[in-house]
Formats: sequence, structure tokens, C-alpha cells
Amino acid sequence: MADGSQALEFTPEVEALTAPLWEKVRSRVTPLEWRLHAPLIAEINRLKREKNAVVLAHNYMTPEIFHGVGDFVGDSLGLAREAARTDAKIIVQAGVHFMAETSKVLSPDKKVLIPDLRAGCSLAASITAADVRLIRQRYPGIPVVTYVNTTAEVKAETDICCTSANAVQVVEAAAREAGTDRVILLPDEFLARNVARQTDVRIIAWQGRCEVHERFDAEDIRQVRAAWPDAQILAHPECPAEVLELADFAGSTSAMSDYVTRRRPKQVVLVTECSMADNVAADAPGTEFVRPCNLCPHMKRISLENIRQALEQERFEVIIDAGVAARARRAVQRMIDLPPPAVPARYDLVKARSHVDVELI
Ligand code: 13P
Ligand code: SF4
Repeated sequence: MADGSQALEFTPEVEALTAPLWEKVRSRVTPLEWRLHAPLIAEINRLKREKNAVVLAHNYMTPEIFHGVGDFVGDSLGLAREAARTDAKIIVQAGVHFMAETSKVLSPDKKVLIPDLRAGCSLAASITAADVRLIRQRYPGIPVVTYVNTTAEVKAETDICCTSANAVQVVEAAAREAGTDRVILLPDEFLARNVARQTDVRIIAWQGRCEVHERFDAEDIRQVRAAWPDAQILAHPECPAEVLELADFAGSTSAMSDYVTRRRPKQVVLVTECSMADNVAADAPGTEFVRPCNLCPHMKRISLENIRQALEQERFEVIIDAGVAARARRAVQRMIDLPPPAVPARYDLVKARSHVDVELI
């Protein structure tokens, strides 16, 4: 093979070893694709045992990664918690670069690998540490909350991190602790607008966008509603507010997944990245998925092939300056130390306060 790895074959042993996984994903993966995936899955799982490694797989990974090699799967908050807890020697982040950095920040003594260094994020790219320093000068005394979708350098400049699963809770805790009624929430404008509708804390926001979720609009949701009137529509809080207003539920990727697996709606629409529906479908066989979704090109850089190479060659290691990592850890750890969010973001709260606005920087 071009990468120096040995070609792997779909032997009867591999077929038998991966048969339970195949049963799980067969509605989403073709038999021909499985002949290519199964030997890689078997090899990756062998390498993980040999090297005492774990794969942390985000909900947007393709089903062969998510179900085939993910030791821990979930949203950004869940994966960060696992990174802090695991006693494996090596963490392979099947997700994007900021997630791998979060793992390294929380596990400085472990080797953290990202299978493709180009797996970025439009939100993380939208703001720098220098921007945050200037914002602090402009708003002295106002606490700065940053979404985990940021670089370690940006996290190092902030008071506390949040994810889509706990943003309201974190913003309220930050305001309470600082004794203010205003909080700066960076860098996702839409997450900030959606949080503002669920709290009395006044939000100051940056104009970063997720390139996947900003593309959904109210007209998409109206069309879906008209075509599938009985479907439950679930949207990620990185979508514009007009989308959430028309949805039945808003929550992190894991909150959406829990909604489907617990309530088992007959039809569901996940207004988010495309692989989510494939992964949840494997755990919710009775539910029909309508799929107006967008692909995240960064998440899609991760494949079974490059996860195998990451483990074989122990590449690409995530390295963070020790001082930056220590300051970023404080902000991430403060978030992790909050109790897990009890109630995920709910549509009725969003709707009730649709007049609330944010101050844009
Ligand atoms: P979650 O934390 O909800 O998994 O979101 C991460 C992300 O990148 C969504 O676009
Ligand atoms: Fe970033 Fe959006 Fe991709 Fe998530 S889906 S990694 S926020 S670009």
C-alpha cells in the first residue's frame, strides 16, 4: 500500500470476528463496503489492545468508525469527560483537532493522536488568542466563556469552557461567580443567540459560524414539516435561531441521540451533520430517518485507514505548549467539574423568549 501498511484481507476469521458489528450497521453499509471495512476494524482493534490505546469517536464519525472502533462515543462534553478519565496510554481522537487538543489538555501525560492534522473546524478558525485578549480589554470585568470548539491558545485566555450540552448552565455559573449580569460567549454567534433565549444573563457574542449548521434556514424546516408532518424535528444549537424556533427539540449531538433512542419517534429529522442519523439509526431500528443534512468536511477527513496509520506509526501527535495547556486545563476542568446538565436545551424555552437579542462584538 502507498502508506507502507500491509494490505489486509477479508478472511473467514475477520468475517467471524466482525459479524456482530456487521449485524448492527448492515442497514447503513453495503456488503461490498463491509469487505473493505471489516479487516481494518479487526486490525485497529488488535492494535488498540497491543498498544493500550482507546479511540474516542465523535457522533459525526461514519458508522464503521463509530460502531466499529470507537471505545467511547459521544458529544464534545462526553468525549472530554472520557479523556479525563481513561487510563489508556494512547488516545486516538476520531474527531476534529480541537477535540484532540481538549483531550491532550486534560491528559497531558498521555500520547494523543489525531489521524489527520487537517481535520479543523470553522468555529475554531474564527477566533485567535489575540482576539480574546482585545475583547477582555474592551469589556473589563465581564467573564469570558468559550465554546470547546476553539484552539487551546484561545481556551487559555478564557475563564471557563462550555459545550452545546451545557452552555446555558455554564453561562449562568460564570455570571453568578463574577457577580455580573453579562457574559461574553465565544465564538459561535448562533449558539450565543440560542443561549440568550434561555437565560436572563445578557450575552455578548462573536460572529463565528459553523459552516455545516449555518446553512440550514427556516425554509428548509418548513419544507420538511410540510412533506413529513408527523416527523419530530431535532436541531443542533449551532443552527440559526429561526431553525430552532421551528424545531421540536434543540440539543447537543448526544442529546439528540438520546431523544431518539429513548422516545423512538416513528419519523425523525436530525438537522445536523449527516453521519449522526446513520449512527443513531443503528440503535433505533423502528425509527425512520428523513435526511436533510450537511456533511462536515473536517470530520470526514477521519477514516479507518488513517486511524490504522495513526496507531501503527503513533502519528500525528498533538503537542501543546505546557504553559498554554495548564491555563487551558483550568478553563476546561472548571466546566467538567460542574454537575452534568440535567435537562437538555428544550424548544419551549427557546420559543418563549424569541425576542431576546445579543450584543455583537
Ligand atoms: P456536540 O458537542 O454537540 O457534539 O457538537 C460538536 C460539534 O462540532 C457540532 O458541530
Ligand atoms: Fe466545526 Fe461545524 Fe464541523 Fe462541528 S460540524 S466540527 S462545529 S465545522
